[in-house]
Parts: sequence; C-alpha cells; structure tokens
Amino acid sequence: MSELPATPDFNIWPVNETVQTVSFSEYSMRLTWSDGRISDHHVLLLRENSPDPITTHPKAREMAIAPTDIVDDVTLTAVELLESGVIRVEFSDGLNTAYHPGWLFGTAWFGPDSVEQPILWNAAEQPEPPTFDGPEALKNSDVFLEWLEALRDYGVARLRNLPQQDGLLEQVVTMIGPVRESNFGRQYVLEIKDDPDSQAYTSGSLLQHIDLPTRELPFGLQFLYTRDNTTTGGEGVYVDAYRIAEDMRTNESDHFYSLTTDVWEYNNRAKTSDYRGQGPVVETNAEGAITGVRYNTFLRAPLKAPLDIQARAYKAYRAFCTRAQSPEYQMKFSYQAGDLLAFDNRRALHGRAGYDAKGGARFIEGLYADRDDLYSRIRTIKRQQRAKNAT
Ligand SMILES: [Fe+2]
Repeated sequence: MSELPATPDFNIWPVNETVQTVSFSEYSMRLTWSDGRISDHHVLLLRENSPDPITTHPKAREMAIAPTDIVDDVTLTAVELLESGVIRVEFSDGLNTAYHPGWLFGTAWFGPDSVEQPILWNAAEQPEPPTFDGPEALKNSDVFLEWLEALRDYGVARLRNLPQQDGLLEQVVTMIGPVRESNFGRQYVLEIKDDPDSQAYTSGSLLQHIDLPTRELPFGLQFLYTRDNTTTGGEGVYVDAYRIAEDMRTNESDHFYSLTTDVWEYNNRAKTSDYRGQGPVVETNAEGAITGVRYNTFLRAPLKAPLDIQARAYKAYRAFCTRAQSPEYQMKFSYQAGDLLAFDNRRALHGRAGYDAKGGARFIEGLYADRDDLYSRIRTIKRQQRAKNAT
C-alpha cells in the first residue's frame, strides 16, 4: 500500500486490517474489515475529518472549519473501495475526498469492549507494585514504556536500582511531562520537621489518602524517589481505591450512592495558605465509570449539609475507610534506596506505617505531575515505535 491519504493528526496509523466491503446510505458508511468486524461512520464525522486542506489545516492538522461551515443535512453520494485500500468518499456539497484505512480502523467504534479499562487489584492479586529495572528503563524506551503502561493500568509502578543522584527525580519525571508545582514547593523532601504543615513531615503512621484533595483538580501523579532508608518501619501502604469503590458498588450500594453524590470539602491546614477543594469521594463519568477519588480523612472540613445527608455521608466515609484499612486491600512494601515509585494520586491511595526516626536515615524526594502527560507520553512513544517499524 503505497500512497495513503493524510490524516487529521500527527499519528501513525498502521494498516493491520484491510477493508473488504463498503456500503453506504445517505447518512452513514459501513465497512467490513479483514478480521470480520464491522464499523459504521456517520456522515458528519467523515465530513469534518476530511483530510483535504480546506477542512483540515495542512500544517497544524487541526480542524480548520466550524460545524456551521458544513451544509445543513449534508449526505453521502458515493463511497468506493480503491485498489490501494483507500476509501474514496463524495459528499452532497461537492467534496470528493479519501480516507486512510488505518485511521478509519483506529478511530472506529467496535463496541464497549474496545475501551481500555484499568486493572483493579487487591492485596492478594498485587502484593507488590509492578517493578522494572531503573537503569534499563532509562536507556531502553521499550522498558520505559512498560513502566508507564503499568502505571496507567495498575495506578502504581516502580523503578528499582537507580543510582543516588541529585536532580535524577526531576530528570525522570520530565521524560514523561512537566512537573506540577504545589504549595509544598517544586520538589519536596519527606523528612521530619519541627513545625510540620503536614503529617507527612512526621514519623507517625499515615492513613491512606490522596494528596492535595484541597485543590480544584488534585494532581494526577506522584513520584517518590528514595535516596536513603535505613530506618525500621515506615513501609508504604497502598490500596486501589477503584477496587474498593467497585466492591462497594456491588455490595454496599447505599454507601456507594453517597460516595458518588455527597460533596465534601477539604481544607489544607497551614499558616500561609488556605486551599479548599470540593467533590464527592468517588468521581464517575457519564457512563458511571470511576474516573478518580478525592479521599483524605484528615483534611476534611465539617460537612455543610442537612442532617440526613450528614448521617449518610459520614457512614459511607467510615465504610470506605474500613475497607481502605483492611489488609485484604493493602499492598505493603518497604522503600529501598534507589526506588522510584510512581503512582496515580487520584486512584492509588497511599499511607505509611510509623517509623523509628532515631534508628537510621530516611531521605525521600517527591514530585507531582499529571495523568494527561503520562497518557500523552505513552502515545508518542508508541507513535515513534510505529514510525520506526514502518521504515
Ligand atoms: Fe501523601
């Protein structure tokens, strides 16, 4: 397949499946693929994604027209499968254009099963984070990609055996995307402070939580780089909040309703800032799928709500907390020097066992970033791999 049409993006679209038959009505085109699957493409979708230079900006590859630039009630007038595998399409407004078969396949709807789902886990299923060799990941983009995909799918993933190096944490994180700064600074160090503005800066145990529920949008990713740890205790205790929420959806539907409906406020307690963020404990999208959690027992403000809502919301929070503290859900592990643990701050709740601050050194650096940057980097690494395979 030599000359394929441009696509309305910068992606590489491999042609793994070919079109076998085409048919169309005024308002949609149907394709049968070599794997037996069938896809339907609406006339408006096709019209506004035409790769012609009037519809798609030839350099920016963004849509260069508005929906109102398309004539009302536009229809398909001809569809043809060319020998090259390209689909040629004519519209009632006179546009004669052609589509890349890889793009048509890659953007087609094949049913809900084709939407990627997170891999949920409990303690038995995932006793340790998915782990990759750090030095190998930093020089081999395939291993780096595996680490990123594990982070996306499990909400937690670790690099091990990294050297002790100033600036290494930021160097690794910026291989994914920009650092997101917070009121705790660009990079923070988990150490004991005399006058702590967070319990993180003590040696006490920490209940499972997300960081910064006090922000309009809590940060999506957190990275912890252990430079040194010779203390006793202080293990990380992580739980998959999505797993807990799904179990509650099944077994405690009243509590699940409260968790997805009742809005809590979280206030940071500091002398020089006063951030306040609101939201339900479990965020869901229009289809009801869980998209994030805002759970932190120790930064909650008193709930401003009618008494009956207070009653159900506090009970639901307690029920969620009961599961988060249950060993059934908890992944518990030590931080070793050279570990770089990455986790989804809005999914994998993190906590800590208390540790003996006099029994050794503990030096852990932390940074935040966002989910979108992770997803974008995964896609662009794959795009580079496809480009390499295509040449
Ligand atoms: Fe934290």
